[in-house]
Amino acid sequence: METKVAQEPIVEYLTTAIVVLDAGNRIVDINPAAESLLRISARQIRGMGVDEALPGLNGIAEALSRARERGTSFTDREHQIALAGELVTLDCSVTPLPDGGLLLELAQLDRHLRISREHQLISQNRAIRELIRGLAHEIKNPLGGLRGAAQLLRRQLDDDALREYTDVIISEADRLRGLVDGLLGPNTQAQRSPVNIHEILERVRHLASAEAPEGVTFVRDYDPSIPPLDAARDQLLQALLNLVRNALQAVGDHGQITLRTRTQRRFTIGDVPHRLVVRVDIIDNGPGIPPDLIERIFYPMITSRPEGTGIGLPIAQNLVAQHGGLIECSSVPGRTEFTVWLPLEDAE
Ligand SMILES: Nc1ncnc2c1ncn2[C@@H]1O[C@H](COP(=O)(O)OP(=O)(O)O)[C@@H](O)[C@H]1O
Ligand SMILES: [Mg+2]
Repeated sequence: METKVAQEPIVEYLTTAIVVLDAGNRIVDINPAAESLLRISARQIRGMGVDEALPGLNGIAEALSRARERGTSFTDREHQIALAGELVTLDCSVTPLPDGGLLLELAQLDRHLRISREHQLISQNRAIRELIRGLAHEIKNPLGGLRGAAQLLRRQLDDDALREYTDVIISEADRLRGLVDGLLGPNTQAQRSPVNIHEILERVRHLASAEAPEGVTFVRDYDPSIPPLDAARDQLLQALLNLVRNALQAVGDHGQITLRTRTQRRFTIGDVPHRLVVRVDIIDNGPGIPPDLIERIFYPMITSRPEGTGIGLPIAQNLVAQHGGLIECSSVPGRTEFTVWLPLEDAE
């Protein structure tokens, strides 16, 4: 029986990014790993000069000419290049080909750093969920008793001024229960159906625009080719809305919020490899997340805002986790990026 590997060239399956150049440094082809690393499709850049197609690779021009001059392969280690505004560290090997072309192999070094951070994030989320579940049980039962007793008491009182006190107990008990329920997340598995991520994002943008000051602009950068996701629409909407609301609060009266969608092939979320995932980035140009806070923002009750509750992010993370996804965050002053990874196809 023929195996799948035999049907497609092996390079399609490599996790190392491969770029093939012709004698004039024009791009002949790139493999899927290079497409996702360089965030560009092979179709877009075939035939283009390498300088023009991949300006981020300028730093390795020297390695290219060195390899050509010497006629032997050459590896540049720990090369830092800028890709789509992010600094990535690469080991870059250049090998001359018999036809005068060059073969570039780009191995990303940050990736294993990212994965260990991701594992940390996932085990952190798991611990948070268990903590919430345990605490919720301990809180909700006595809270129910407290509320019931306040209601009974209220009936016995004919003084409105005293009733106000029981009303405070009742409404605060309700608020607390709502908080705990929100943290617990939906208790039934919500119905999933094919949803269009852009329809959800447009809804989120619409809701957020209504709350946004005039000086805040939304930029849409959508990849229209993204296929429908199998998801609980309202849950994804809630998760994304929480992220966009935070961005809105961060930028204040003036700022820019970018909603960006992309797909990525062969991507691992946690331990689960997927053939295709969608990445939704919510980017704002606000002041950024304070460094002492960033490691903890997905914990419940962590907030830097006086009127904040600190449950927006843990709820969002929880909802996305129920879809087999993950939210990551990176932030420097002037650029905060929340990335939501969602599997588009079942695990391999
Ligand atoms: N886009 C952002 N820019 C700056 N800080 C942010 C951003 N998103 C979240 N944060 C920080 O994370 C904290 C927690 O967010 P969240 O869980 O939604 O709770 P809340 O919004 O109630 O404070 C916020 O208080 C804020 O300090
Ligand atoms: Mg929030």
